[in-house]
Amino acid sequence: MSRGSLATPPVFAAIFILYLACQRPPEVDPEPVASEIWDGRCANCHGPEGRGDGPTGAALVAAPRSFHDPSWQAATTDAQIRLAILYGGAAAGYSDAMPPNPDLRERPRVVEALIKKIRGYRPAPTPTR
Ligand code: HEC
Repeated sequence: MSRGSLATPPVFAAIFILYLACQRPPEVDPEPVASEIWDGRCANCHGPEGRGDGPTGAALVAAPRSFHDPSWQAATTDAQIRLAILYGGAAAGYSDAMPPNPDLRERPRVVEALIKKIRGYRPAPTPTR
């Protein structure tokens, strides 16, 4: 057996470990990340509970609407919400005061979790008898 073949397994192991170390950590649970982004970036304008009453939002000419409005929830598609988040209000036909979030284009699961959070503000339907 030559020296070369004896050295091969540890070399492969080292390369493999290096390969694993270079992998981006998976976005394990996107929901806490989305909540953090909401509190840090969105609540300022949209309010902590999505009522459109954040301190910065209230000062805007076109103040953000309340996400608790059932007719807005019914009329708006997830695609429109996604567009507004990623490309800004103007791209989605709203006020350009809504800033784009280009970094989230690489993080679709976090965007889905943000959409889910916004959808979560939809009021429960009044029970019918
Ligand atoms: C600087 C203030 C500001 C920040 C920060 C902001 N928004 Fe907005 N957002 C707005 C305004 C203003 C509108 C548009 C209101 C209008 O034209 O009716 C809007 C619109 C939207 C809409 C479209 C809803 C609609 O029909 O009005 C969504 C969805 C949205 N924002 C989500 C988010 C999310 C999620 C974040 C955080 C990642 C965020 N926004 C950060 C101000 C802001």
